[in-house]
Amino acid sequence: MAKRYFVPPIPSSEITSEGAYLNRRQFMRAAGLTASTSLMGSLSATAHGAPTGGAELEYSQATDNSQGFYTAEKQTPFDDVTAYCNFYEFGTDKGDPERYAHNMTVDPWSIEVTGAVSKPGKLHLEDLLTGFELEERVYRLRCVEAWSMVVPWVGFSLGDLLKRFEPTGKARFVAFETLYKPSEMRGTRSFTSTIDWPYREGLRMDEAMHPLTLMAVGLYGKTLPNQNGAPVRLVVPWKYGFKSIKSIVRIHVLERQPQTTWEMMQPSEYGFYANVNPQVNHPRWSQATERRLPSTLFRPNRIPTRLFNGYEEQVAELYKGMDLSRDY
Ligand code: MTE
Repeated sequence: MAKRYFVPPIPSSEITSEGAYLNRRQFMRAAGLTASTSLMGSLSATAHGAPTGGAELEYSQATDNSQGFYTAEKQTPFDDVTAYCNFYEFGTDKGDPERYAHNMTVDPWSIEVTGAVSKPGKLHLEDLLTGFELEERVYRLRCVEAWSMVVPWVGFSLGDLLKRFEPTGKARFVAFETLYKPSEMRGTRSFTSTIDWPYREGLRMDEAMHPLTLMAVGLYGKTLPNQNGAPVRLVVPWKYGFKSIKSIVRIHVLERQPQTTWEMMQPSEYGFYANVNPQVNHPRWSQATERRLPSTLFRPNRIPTRLFNGYEEQVAELYKGMDLSRDY
């Protein structure tokens, strides 16, 4: 990840303006095109290499600033969110996920929930898309590489999912795994990759149950494009982006802290907590500022990074008494 810190400027194509997006969504709603009517057709099309994502979702809009569910900051255009990605299963170049992730079959899909839960089981694609109250949450996403975006996600709280499986008294951590399917993921076949697949992430139970922790199934009102982690990914807005694991197939609830991909690879540089913190620098670069996308060489759009990515009011309590420079 670190190698690519000095990235080339990003093309700032703003083809879908916010206004156009809103109008179109209103139109689709008026036409009654909702998840239940249009979803399955579109998702199965992705299996055949057609443009990814794209089905309209039915959701309410979060407006609660005090909970951190919504920011009025300028949203990063859809084209930047979907073209400038990290999804190493498809390659390490920022354009690789958009170029190659359409090869990933996202229907059928299921998440298996195991471990310290009374009712282990599976959630299938339809349960994920229609079995929870979907809400649009506009969050900041801050990558450890010092770029950031503002994304209108659609999803539901991870806590709502976990409660269905009834965590037991031994539930102290939650581990997540991404799909590992080399035949469809060219990055996992690469001889230069040093990642021990599948991509793994984890949270402490109280972090997992925090209302801000989102299972996203869409962005900009539609199902997730494959490159952004279709059909379901985690979004933990106060942590560096690598915690927000994509295309999840397994959730394991456990007593001990699980191993996670970046920590396993480079423990001195990437910790389990990975809370956004401008005062704790990465060993090889400063975390004091970030490039807010769209950003170009001449207009880098550099802004100060905030503690917990600006969600201090909501989450600081979780880390009371902890030394954030040691537990980075
Ligand atoms: N999940 C998987 N499975 N594989 C990855 O390579 N990259 C992470 C995270 N989730 C990654 C992943 C990183 S480093 C970031 S910054 C975010 O995804 C980027 O999400 P985005 O591409 O949707 O912006």
